[in-house]
Formats: sequence, C-alpha cells, structure tokens
Amino acid sequence: MAGRICVLASGSGSLLQALIDSPMQPKIVAVGADRPHVQALTRAEAAGIPTFIVDPHEYSNRLDWDAALNDRIRECEPDLVVSAGFMRILGPATVQSFRGQLINTHPALLPAFPGAHAVRDALDYGVTVTGATVHFIDEGVDTGPIIAQQAVPVLVDDDVERLHERIKVIERQLLVSVVTELMKGQDL
Ligand code: GRF
Repeated sequence: MAGRICVLASGSGSLLQALIDSPMQPKIVAVGADRPHVQALTRAEAAGIPTFIVDPHEYSNRLDWDAALNDRIRECEPDLVVSAGFMRILGPATVQSFRGQLINTHPALLPAFPGAHAVRDALDYGVTVTGATVHFIDEGVDTGPIIAQQAVPVLVDDDVERLHERIKVIERQLLVSVVTELMKGQDL
C-alpha cells in the first residue's frame, strides 16, 4: 500500500498530530471531520493539510450522510483512510468503497469493550489490564480484523480521564507504527 492518507477525526486530534509529526512523514492529503470547530481541523490547517466537514446534522438520514462522506473521501483518492478519534460509525457505502484500506484506532483491547465508552466500560468492569487496538473497519462496531494491540495496566487511582490519557500515549505509538508498516507495503 503506498502513498495517500485521508484521516477522519472528531475531537482534539492528538492521534492525527502523532501521524503529522511521525518520522515517516506520511502524505496526509486531507483531514475530514463530522463537525466544525474541532481541534483536529485546526491542527490540520496548521500543518497545511486540506480539510473537509461532512456533518450528519446536514443530512436527513444516515445513508445520505454516508454517501456524502464516501464521495468526499473518494475525491481525495486515498490509499489508506484512518479513523483517528472519528466518533461515528461509518456507513455501508464508505466501508464497501474502502474495505481493506480503512483502519480505526480504539482505546481498549478488542473484542472487549467496543463502542464509544470503551475506557469507562473497562474501568467500570474492573479489569486490571486494558489497552489500545488498531483494526480494519468492517460493517460492525469495532469488529473488524485486528492489526495490532498493546496492553495498558489500570492503576488503582485511575479515573476515566487519567486512564484514557495513558491509553492515548500508547494508541498514538501503535497507530504510527501500523501506518508506517502499511505504507511500506508490508503484510501485517
Ligand atoms: C482516542 O482514544 C480514540 O480511540 C477515541 O478518541 C480518542 C481520540 O483522541 N475514539 P484525539 O482526538 O486524537 O486526541
């Protein structure tokens, strides 16, 4: 797999920043968000990367939003699409268009604790080890084939925020390493 990367993000964009700053100097051709005014877009603009927004609130249903997002990503002609803190489940059009080129990073050791509240759910369950997963995206919620995982211990005085910050340190390293390997065209 070579070349062009499109990153999708919804929040602070620290995963995006890790890619921008990584030694491999990835060719990030666009950063897409599902809402305006997020820090991820500011980070992209600061790095001179074109941005786009496909906001579900501007579409009457999820399939129309998915079609618009799919079109917008296709215009970027990416070799790899990275969902890096993009807090939406991609729809069928986007998943079908980019199957095998679409990866996500998740703050838990899948298949444990899928979904939007992985860190809280792991803490509530009382696990002593959680972690980060980078996986290919399929039609399910955090169900696609796992590419790489790394464990993070839960400490006695952890709250959701503290634990998430430690997981994100690992998540950033894991994402950079997976993207670097994919860009080299190596089998994972
Ligand atoms: C990451 O933990 C990601 O897995 C989760 O949200 C966080 C995004 O962090 N879904 P950031 O916006 O890249 O800082």
